[in-house]
Amino acid sequence: MRAAVFDSGVGGLTVVKSLVEHRLFDEIVYFGDTARVPYGIKDKNTIIRYSLEALEFFKNFEPDILIAACNSVSAHAIEELRSNAPFPVVGVIEPGVMALEQKIENKDAQILIIGTNATISSARYEKELQKRGYHNTISKATPLFVPIVEEGIFEGEILEATMRHYFDGLHPDAVILGCTHFPLIANAISRYFNHKATLIHSGEAIAEHLIKSLSLKSRSKEPGLKFFASENPEKLKKIASAWLS
Ligand code: DGL
Repeated sequence: MRAAVFDSGVGGLTVVKSLVEHRLFDEIVYFGDTARVPYGIKDKNTIIRYSLEALEFFKNFEPDILIAACNSVSAHAIEELRSNAPFPVVGVIEPGVMALEQKIENKDAQILIIGTNATISSARYEKELQKRGYHNTISKATPLFVPIVEEGIFEGEILEATMRHYFDGLHPDAVILGCTHFPLIANAISRYFNHKATLIHSGEAIAEHLIKSLSLKSRSKEPGLKFFASENPEKLKKIASAWLS
């Protein structure tokens, strides 16, 4: 079984890492639109256009499924991808909310959703949470975390100051890491909230969702990996070998 994984850049490798660990596919074809990242500051129509262009690229590989690892794509272009793809398309938002539902029973729990401006302005997570009865949500665009992670900063003063800037006064019961990059700073975020908040990681959520919805079984060996990027694929491959190790 072959999965195609799409992201605006390198961040979707956090989702690939979960898919590799769970050995759900024989092959994973990854495309990061590194020439046009970030998507999180772009408007809906641009995100849809870029996503449909990526879809054309993936069609050449005849994947069994397309996984939109990017939250900004999942928030704005999932319907368009689904109606134009000859294979199933899954995004990260519903699986993330389903994972939260499994971990947080209390519907009064305070849920903090963090993501790019595009993801937060779509209010997609909030709507999905509200459908399931969670009414105590706070959404916060935290775009500065994206370049910080891309700089390879996963702890330390700059990250601490940025967390204080965004999180001051907040005491959530759960945090939805609504951006591909945020799992890489999950430990720091958890520490900031004194390990009292449950963190939801898109990659893990999507792996669990695929296991359940497609009844996928773990393969005996790790998948073959193919990496493509619209700019500087060598850099993406280097980051992949560092993050996936
Ligand atoms: N991959 C994007 C997301 O998960 C983050 C980077 C970007 O803004 O493109 O929303």
